[in-house]
Amino acid sequence: MKTAIYPGSFDPVTLGHLNIIKRAAKAFDQLIVCVLVNSEKHGIFSAEERVELLRRAISLENVEVDMYSGLLANYAKQRDARVLVKGLRAFSDFEAEVQMAIINNKLNPDLDTVFFPSSQKFNYLSSTVAKELARYDVNLEEILPREIIEDVRRKMEEKRGACDGK
Ligand code: PNS
Repeated sequence: MKTAIYPGSFDPVTLGHLNIIKRAAKAFDQLIVCVLVNSEKHGIFSAEERVELLRRAISLENVEVDMYSGLLANYAKQRDARVLVKGLRAFSDFEAEVQMAIINNKLNPDLDTVFFPSSQKFNYLSSTVAKELARYDVNLEEILPREIIEDVRRKMEEKRGACDGK
């Protein structure tokens, strides 16, 4: 069975991520979407919340959502996966992604990275853009999975309330 891992911050999952997930789920027998916990980079959603949002947005039988704190190369070994999936939006993503692919392969020589070019429709999209737009009265249906739009709006509201209260 060919298992691949699609790692990321997913703070929160966007339609761009979802597009990569659907394509990778067709290319591999099993896809593990893994939220990587980074103690130095705090998002607006906790890792547990991101996992919950991903689970709500994904309805594919061969896709599992998980979270991990540590080196991706070790997680891949643990899950017996030999492929990492990454989405590439633009040339600007390329350099950092290739560097990470080389490092991951050095740490775990059984592990390789495959890149999926982002569909043109989502080339401009990122979780950062989604969060910024969620603060305003903008239609988010072409940006975020429908199932999570209200959660993101609410979280940005809460964040603004917390800042105003200071
Ligand atoms: O969605 P992101 O923020 O671009 O994802 C980056 C991520 C989580 C894939 C990357 O930071 C990562 O792999 N973190 C795990 C720690 C690790 O294994 N580092 C070594 C690779 S340089």
